[in-house]
Formats: sequence, structure tokens, C-alpha cells
Amino acid sequence: MNRYYLCIIGGGKIGISFAEGLIYKNILEINNIIISKKNINPNFNKFNITYDNQYAVKYSKIIILSVLPSQLKEVLNDIKHVIKKDHIIISFVAGIEIDYIKLYLNNHINIIRIIPNIAIRKGESIICIVNNNNVNNKIINHLFSKLGFMLFLDESCIDAATSLFSSNIAFIAYLMKPVNDLIINKINTNISVSNLLLIQLLKGFISLIKNNKKNIIFDSLINDIASHRGFTVKGIQYMEKKNVQKNIINAILNSYNK
Ligand SMILES: NC(=O)c1ccc[n+]([C@@H]2O[C@H](COP(=O)([O-])OP(=O)(O)OC[C@H]3O[C@@H](n4cnc5c(N)ncnc54)[C@H](OP(=O)(O)O)[C@@H]3O)[C@@H](O)[C@H]2O)c1
Repeated sequence: MNRYYLCIIGGGKIGISFAEGLIYKNILEINNIIISKKNINPNFNKFNITYDNQYAVKYSKIIILSVLPSQLKEVLNDIKHVIKKDHIIISFVAGIEIDYIKLYLNNHINIIRIIPNIAIRKGESIICIVNNNNVNNKIINHLFSKLGFMLFLDESCIDAATSLFSSNIAFIAYLMKPVNDLIINKINTNISVSNLLLIQLLKGFISLIKNNKKNIIFDSLINDIASHRGFTVKGIQYMEKKNVQKNIINAILNSYNK
């Protein structure tokens, strides 16, 4: 009997964010979810928490694997004896292929790979999905369609997609932090006002690129703003001199060719 609809093995940053998104978007109720962790801490009393992976798996229909790649083997060895034929396994684990999981789980068929990003907790993720084994899309839609934009991919693209759509939230935060600091320092404002200004800046940018179907929009946007010998041109020239675009490309490529 399934006491829970879904278990999340690994109640860390993305596991908890996913659970929060499911609740926030009214997709599941809190009692439909059980989360397993290695160390139980009392601050987690919002969710059903266990340290017993086998218990979580035994009483759930869907199993989310959300541990670090280095922790996966131990988890698979722990749960393999309680996996049933009709269990659906969804792995969030970056860099680990479906075939690897299949091998440890006695050739289990229903395995999907999904890479969300942390905005899943607000229902605004990009959700990269590899479904080689044709697991019923109804189940995927039910769990993920309200949590962001679903992108079905071939497994060969998933590492690049992980950098571009999952890690990139961190890269954007890294790039926006100095902008935010400058807003605070140069406009003499506080964090909540600078936050509003940064959001409006990004909203303005989004409104300008929305529905665009041509790659040249980025160059023409720069041209529209950069008047001859003005502030913008100086900034762009500095970035060109420092190879900023090339360095951004290298940073992203580096992250998934690590
Ligand atoms: N963070 C992201 O934005 C993101 C996005 C997409 C995919 N991913 C992938 O998702 C996975 C998890 O990432 P994360 O950032 O959430 O890592 P994390 O915060 O370190 O979470 C890992 C969790 O796994 C738990 N754990 C470790 N060994 C376990 C075991 N034997 N049984 C049960 N639970 C165990 C840990 O428990 P304790 O807390 O008790 O130690 C921890 O809660 C990674 O493979 C990552 O590549 C992450």
C-alpha cells in the first residue's frame, strides 16, 4: 500500500526546494510526501522526515533521487531490494546516466532523469527531462508542468543543460551581486530599494527580449542604448577589452566539462 505518493531521497537544497514547489503550487499535500535525509534536524518538522530510505521507498509510488553524485551508490545499494517493478524513479543527480542507475537497480525500467533549478520552489524553474523509457508523460506533467518550463531532451544534452539552466541561476546571482552592491553604494539606497531597482532592470530587459525570434536582438539592443561616445559605449569597450563574453562562455563550458 502506498502511504505516500512520493519520496525524496536526499532532503538537501534541491530536494526541499522541489517539495516546497509541490506545496506552493498545490500539486501535492504535505502528507503525500516523505523525505529522507542522513541527519535529521528538528528544523525540518514541516515535512515528514525519515532517515530510513527503505521505509520511504516501500510506502511510495514515485522515488526522487536527490543526493550528491558521490552519495548515490550507497543509496542505490540501500534501496535496491525494496524497489518494485511499478516504482517510478526520477533522478535529479547531475552527471549520472540512467544506465548507471538501471545497473544498480537490477535493470529497473521506469527511470527518468530530471534537472530542475532552484527556482522550482517558486514554480519558475526550467525542468530538463530525459525520458528514454517512455514513462507515462501524465505523471511527469502532473508533478512538473506547474513548476516551470518543461524541456524534453536527449541524454547527450543533459550535462550542457545542467550548466545552462541549473548552475546558471548561481552564475546570474554571481554577476548581479556587484551590480546590486553598486546600486546600494552609488545611489545611496538600502537593500530593499536596490532589490526593487534590480528587479525592474531585469524586468525591463525581459520585456525587450520577449517573443524575439532573432539572435541579433542582443546586438541591436546594445546599439539602441549605446550612443556615440556615451557612457554605454565606454562600458562595452571595457568589457570587450577584457574579453568578458569569451570568459563567460569559458566559465559555463568549464563547469560541465569539469
Ligand atoms: N542544488 C541545485 O540547484 C541542483 C539542481 C539540479 C540538480 N541537482 C542535483 O541534485 C542532487 C542534490 O543536490 P543538493 O544541492 O540538494 O545537495 P545537498 O544539499 O548536499 O543534498 C544532499 C542531501 O542528500 C542527503 N543524503 C546524503 N546521503 C544520504 C543517504 N545515504 N540517504 C539519504 N539521504 C542522504 C543529505 O542528507 P543530510 O542533509 O542529512 O546530510 C542531504 O540532505 C545533486 O546530485 C545535484 O547534482 C542540484
